Amino acid sequence: MKESVSIGLMGLGVVGSRVAQVLMERRDMISSRVGVPIALAKVLVRDPHKKRSVHIVPLITLESKEITQNPVIDIVVELMGGEDPATSYIREALSCGKHVVTANKEVIAKYGPELLALAAKKGVGLLFESSVGGGIPLVYPLTREFCLDRIESIIAIINGTTNFILTQMAKGADFISALKNAQELGYAEPDPQNDIQGLDCAYKLSILATLGFRNIIHPHEVYTEGISKLRPRDFEYAQELGYTIKLLSIAKDEGGYVEARVHPTLIPQSSSLAEVDGVYNAVQVQGDLVGKVMFYGEGAGASPTSSAVISDIIDAAQKVVREVKGQTIDLRQEKPLRPMGEVRTRYYLRMRAEDKPGVLAQIAQVLGDNEISISSVIQKETSSGSAELVIMTHIASEGKMRRAIQEIELLPSVLQIESFIRVED
Ligand code: NAP
Ligand code: HSE
Repeated sequence: MKESVSIGLMGLGVVGSRVAQVLMERRDMISSRVGVPIALAKVLVRDPHKKRSVHIVPLITLESKEITQNPVIDIVVELMGGEDPATSYIREALSCGKHVVTANKEVIAKYGPELLALAAKKGVGLLFESSVGGGIPLVYPLTREFCLDRIESIIAIINGTTNFILTQMAKGADFISALKNAQELGYAEPDPQNDIQGLDCAYKLSILATLGFRNIIHPHEVYTEGISKLRPRDFEYAQELGYTIKLLSIAKDEGGYVEARVHPTLIPQSSSLAEVDGVYNAVQVQGDLVGKVMFYGEGAGASPTSSAVISDIIDAAQKVVREVKGQTIDLRQEKPLRPMGEVRTRYYLRMRAEDKPGVLAQIAQVLGDNEISISSVIQKETSSGSAELVIMTHIASEGKMRRAIQEIELLPSVLQIESFIRVED
């Protein structure tokens, strides 16, 4: 039996610093859970001169092999972010027989199945609870508690940065200052475009849907739209219509297809997801046995994320001590992805048109010709003399909706389609 467990940490930024701090401050508690002393052995950074909030200068290295190939190190904790060189370091660590803990959703979404297979071959664990939902347990329930359920849908708010921005925008704040605020709070990705453009959600949804449906869904297969096209007018109209706007990540397993999409969505103010504000995340899972379950908590930030990282470290350390192999996850690729054009939902359309008789009738005609039924219309005069029209539709197919939009754009009396947002009731 091992008499101590050594950790190699890669990355000492927002999350890495907090993890290092908790590992040192709660060392006795963690060691007593593991059964033997556990300690940080090496810490990889990029810039050795940067001022750090944790004092571990003697452990710092700039050489990745001092961690991935170090025979003393049992567990490698990757908290650098980005695809490269994180993927190759993780691969190398697993190949050298080390357990790996990571918060890197990009790496897990893109290479998870391959890395899990490598971990299984080497008899070690690859643990990534912190890659989705910050401190909220999601990977563990999906792979353990619900392992006998047939998961039917996952509907989630899984990006803290964009939920924080949207919450601020709904209160009238502007996009740029809300983003700056989220960055200062440590919520945003090293490249915040990953949050804003919806990529971070696509990575996380691909991980959750792959685990939940036990069917590999690649992140590039997830239809992805970010929040940059939303305007204050849309929040005002959403409010007037009894809705709020959230960046939803939606995955469904129905009719022999899997569906996976990330986009801004109007949801009723009365729904439980509408109440999820700021950095909070919520994930609704519907299973055939468990029914509807909702997970809720802080989805980003140093402390919640480090809570999930440390619980994975303890899990891996117990495996080291007991000489237990890592858990294997059975993943297949059987069900095809539903093309976005075949997805069915409701829509919100906001456009500017000439304020003259017959315009609304022409737009209604195009929608009707494409089998799209209108559920409500708001028309307001603008200061420039044109009319602003907001149309809510009943459920229609995405393909028909897109064709209708192209045809509406060609109508001479329509000046511009300014917003097109999906609606989920
Ligand atoms: P961060 O603050 O930018 O920190 C990244 C750290 O990695 C820095 O210490 C940096 O070194 C180091 N690093 C980056 N590239 C490196 C390289 N090539 N070689 C050596 N060191 C390198 O990022 P973070 O916010 O902590 O995020 C880390 C990971 O956690 C990401 O995968 C992210 O998606 C995930 N995550 C973050 C949160 C959150 O709320 N922030 C939540 C959940 C998951 P220097 O300090 O020397 O620059
Ligand atoms: N940038 C991510 C977010 C970090 O805002 O949700 C947590 O994964």
